[in-house]
Amino acid sequence: MCIIFSFIINLIRLILNFVMRKKSSINSQWNKQDHEYNVEKFYNLQNNSEPVYLNFGYYIDGKNNNGKNDNMTDLIYDNVNIDNNSIVLDVGCGFGLSCISNSHKYNCKIIGVDCVNQHITESMKITNNQISELLSGKSKLNSGLVYGSATKLLNYFPINSFSHIISIEGGNHYNTRYKFLEDSYILLKQNGKLSMTEILKTSTAPSILGYIMAKAWRCPIDNIITTEELVNQLIEIGFKNITIKDISNNVFEEYYLNNFTDKVNHKKRYGIVHYFKIIVDYSLFKFYRFGYCKYVVIIATK
Ligand SMILES: C[S@@+](CC[C@H](N)C(=O)[O-])C[C@H]1O[C@@H](n2cnc3c(N)ncnc32)[C@H](O)[C@@H]1O
Repeated sequence: MCIIFSFIINLIRLILNFVMRKKSSINSQWNKQDHEYNVEKFYNLQNNSEPVYLNFGYYIDGKNNNGKNDNMTDLIYDNVNIDNNSIVLDVGCGFGLSCISNSHKYNCKIIGVDCVNQHITESMKITNNQISELLSGKSKLNSGLVYGSATKLLNYFPINSFSHIISIEGGNHYNTRYKFLEDSYILLKQNGKLSMTEILKTSTAPSILGYIMAKAWRCPIDNIITTEELVNQLIEIGFKNITIKDISNNVFEEYYLNNFTDKVNHKKRYGIVHYFKIIVDYSLFKFYRFGYCKYVVIIATK
């Protein structure tokens, strides 16, 4: 059984590596052996020609869900009392759409970090000087983006810089989430808040399917943990007032019902990559339905 699974994984990896090599015309700052290089190649496959949200979306019962991605960022930002004095770091910010919209909504300063060059448009990229100005609140800019890694944050920002750190669906990819949490703790001001969404497993039992999903999604295995394990990590690092809310129903269930048919109908758009995305989406949905994983919002205080 294991030999068959490992054969399938390696076959999928070979096909993906072949496709990625063809499609990765990326101007990358990462070395080939860096984890971020693989994540960057993975996201470049999506070939988005314009800025889009990359999260699943938060579907609110009984509402027109055109704004599902805004609902998700609202949920994460609104929960942590951001105001016009806040200085926010949005890690794994994707194209930075939530940085732009929320910096205006709250009249605060927001810096986004993402490890995919294609996500960081030139007009949003900021220099070290601009980072300092934003952190001191003196900048005329409301927001800006840094092409960097979630686990190299201490290279870009001084300690105790931020009132809030946000991460929407990035944690599973970071190398590792634990390192990101440790650095976030250092970068937050006293009583600063961490607010993030994560996909977590529901059982500590090892799962071959979980392993395949993690590999396909470029997630280090150490990141595939349960809610209890994540809470223990947060406590170990020093966070307090930790709250966890399971919102799987409003995310996985509705994402699948709203998007899957559409994706299947547009399968020709990205060819083989699109088939791969359909398989990954469907597997995640089945995973959730079988009770193997959940989608949670986590808030913690330094
Ligand atoms: C699921 S997307 C979510 C993007 C965005 N938060 C949103 O809601 O649209 C995860 C993002 O995390 C970024 N990411 C993954 N690993 C990263 C890392 N090690 N450092 C920085 N960003 C990373 C990816 O490039 C991607 O943009």
